[in-house]
Amino acid sequence: MSRSPAPQSGIFKVPDAEKPRILIQLDTDQHPSVFDRVVAVDAGVEHIFSYGGVKPEQVRDLVHGAIFTRSPKNLNRTAIFVGGSDVGVGELVLAEVRKAMIPGPGLCVSVMLDSNGSNTTAAAAVRAAAKHLDLGQAKSLILGGTGPVGQRVARLLARQGGHVRIASRQVDRAEAVCSSIRHAVPGANVEAVSASTSADGTKALDDRNLVIAAGAAGVVLLPKKLRSMCKTLQVAIDLNAVPPVGIEGIEVIDKAVMRDEVACYGALGVGDAKMRIHKAALLALFEDNRKVLDAEEIYSLALRV
Ligand SMILES: NC(=O)c1ccc[n+]([C@@H]2O[C@H](COP(=O)([O-])OP(=O)(O)OC[C@H]3O[C@@H](n4cnc5c(N)ncnc54)[C@H](OP(=O)(O)O)[C@@H]3O)[C@@H](O)[C@H]2O)c1
Repeated sequence: MSRSPAPQSGIFKVPDAEKPRILIQLDTDQHPSVFDRVVAVDAGVEHIFSYGGVKPEQVRDLVHGAIFTRSPKNLNRTAIFVGGSDVGVGELVLAEVRKAMIPGPGLCVSVMLDSNGSNTTAAAAVRAAAKHLDLGQAKSLILGGTGPVGQRVARLLARQGGHVRIASRQVDRAEAVCSSIRHAVPGANVEAVSASTSADGTKALDDRNLVIAAGAAGVVLLPKKLRSMCKTLQVAIDLNAVPPVGIEGIEVIDKAVMRDEVACYGALGVGDAKMRIHKAALLALFEDNRKVLDAEEIYSLALRV
């Protein structure tokens, strides 16, 4: 009796081209961000493995699960997204992700950091400002500069070479942001300022061309009266979409709308670009298995979308 030939090895292999795109979401908050998951689906990611409450010391084993499962030539179909509301912890998680990779034999996957949308939102805001100003010469003020978004806006602007003031109700918090920016961007021209009183506000705004409000949702950080006193101001960008808005007099839908000779942007005016940048960054993760997308890389991508 003749026997059927044994199945050839490899006959049951899924063809390489069909490996689905997997995004591993490492979120430092208890509940992995729904927003980040929806954007990933809309960007064409086929599977999202979401982990919440991720601590830096737990990262290594999660990364090993990603890099030891597919052959190096297919690892561009797996990527990691680091999110959560605390960009400082996000940075520590990113550092651990990088440490756990084994790049020699190609055992690595691309990774992106976007805690609280900080990098993609900051990239969109700075890109808007760059349409009106030479950022190498600009004098900017970041209100709410201690939050995840404000910190990244400040770092991107400092990287362009201009002078950046970072405002906080507690000046030592702004000082801490300045020192972390100086660490990331040697020679950064950054200054911490207080923003507790309206007298502080006048001083902080003095000689500024650009103001970006990255304060908490629903909080007015710059009243109209104060803004109109600043005669050097050319561009004002507000990232808060929740009424009342952060810069009084700006409409959420403003997109390069001139108000009192100042080019104004509201949160939705910037949000459109933010969404495009976020999706483009996710897609870029699957181009190869060696990308590390943090503020600067996402900004440079933002200039091309
Ligand atoms: N347009 C978009 O696409 C988009 C995307 C993401 C986020 N956003 C918006 O961007 C903004 C910044 O986000 P985030 O997550 O970085 O903000 P956040 O962490 O909630 O707040 C930023 C800073 O605002 C200051 N602040 C908080 N409560 C305040 C109050 N009652 N009065 C005055 N200042 C206060 C704090 O600075 P100090 O304590 O140091 O003063 C805080 O560090 C938010 O409005 C968010 O909704 C927009």
